[in-house]
Amino acid sequence: MSNSAGLFSSSLGRKYLMALTGLFLCSFLLIHLLGNVALFTDPVQFNEYTRFMSSNPIIRVMEIILVLGFLTHIVDAVMLSKANKAAQPVKYAMDRKQSSWYSRNMGLTGSIILAFLILHLQSFWYGYKFGDVAMTLDSSGAEIKDMFTMVVSAFSEFWYSAIYVAAMLLLGTHLNHGFQSAFQSVGLRHKKYTPTIKKLGTAFAVAMTLGFISFPIYFYITQL
Ligand code: HEM
Repeated sequence: MSNSAGLFSSSLGRKYLMALTGLFLCSFLLIHLLGNVALFTDPVQFNEYTRFMSSNPIIRVMEIILVLGFLTHIVDAVMLSKANKAAQPVKYAMDRKQSSWYSRNMGLTGSIILAFLILHLQSFWYGYKFGDVAMTLDSSGAEIKDMFTMVVSAFSEFWYSAIYVAAMLLLGTHLNHGFQSAFQSVGLRHKKYTPTIKKLGTAFAVAMTLGFISFPIYFYITQL
C-alpha cells in the first residue's frame, strides 16, 4: 500500500477527507442557493441557468467530482463512526451528557439528508433530464425546458414542501456542527480562532436553512 493510500484509510486520514469533502459540499450548497435565487427574480433566467447547468461540459466534470465528494463523505462517516464505537464504548456513553444533540446525531441527520437528496434528484435532476417537461421560450425566443414551472408546481404540494422544510431544518443542524468540526479535523483548533469559526458555522447553517426553506414556503403559500 502506498503512503497516501495508507493515510486515507487511517482514522486520521478519513477525518481529514471527511472534513475536506464536507467543506467542498458546503461550497456547492452556497452556489446552488445563489443559482436558485433566480426562481424569485426571473423565471426565464432560471430556465437558462438550468439549461447551462445540465449542458455545460465543465459543469459535467464538476458533477462527477460532486458525486465523488458525496460518496467519500458518506463512506468515511460510516467507517469512522464504526471505528469510534468499537474503540471507545465507555467514552461514548460519557460523551452523551456533555455533547449537543446535533453533534451526537450527525449520522441520523446525515442519513435523512441523503434520503431527501434521493427524492430531490429523482424529482428535479432525473425529472429534468428524462421526464416529460413542458417547453417554454428563452430570452432569444427559442424553445427551452420549463424547469421554473416544474419546481413551482412541485412546491404547490403540501407534503412535498413539508418534507423540504423538515429536511432543511435537519440540514441546518448538520451544518452547524459539521462546519466547525471540519476545521478542527484539519487541525485548526485554537483558543483565539475556534469561537469565531463556531459563529461562522452557525451563521452559514442559518443562512443555508433560511435560504433553502424560503422556496417551498413561498411557492406553497403563493399557490394556495
Ligand atoms: C428548496 C431548495 C432547493 C431547490 C429549489 C433546488 C432546486 C434544484 C434544481 C432545479 C435542480 C436541477 C437543476 C440544477 O442542476 O440546477 C437541482 C439539482 C440538485 N440539487 Fe437542489 N434544490 C434545493 C435544495 C437542495 C439541497 C439542500 C441540496 C443538498 C443537500 C441539493 C442538492 C442538489 C444536487 C446534488 C443537484 C444535482 C446537481 C447537478 O447535477 O448539477 N439541492 N436542485
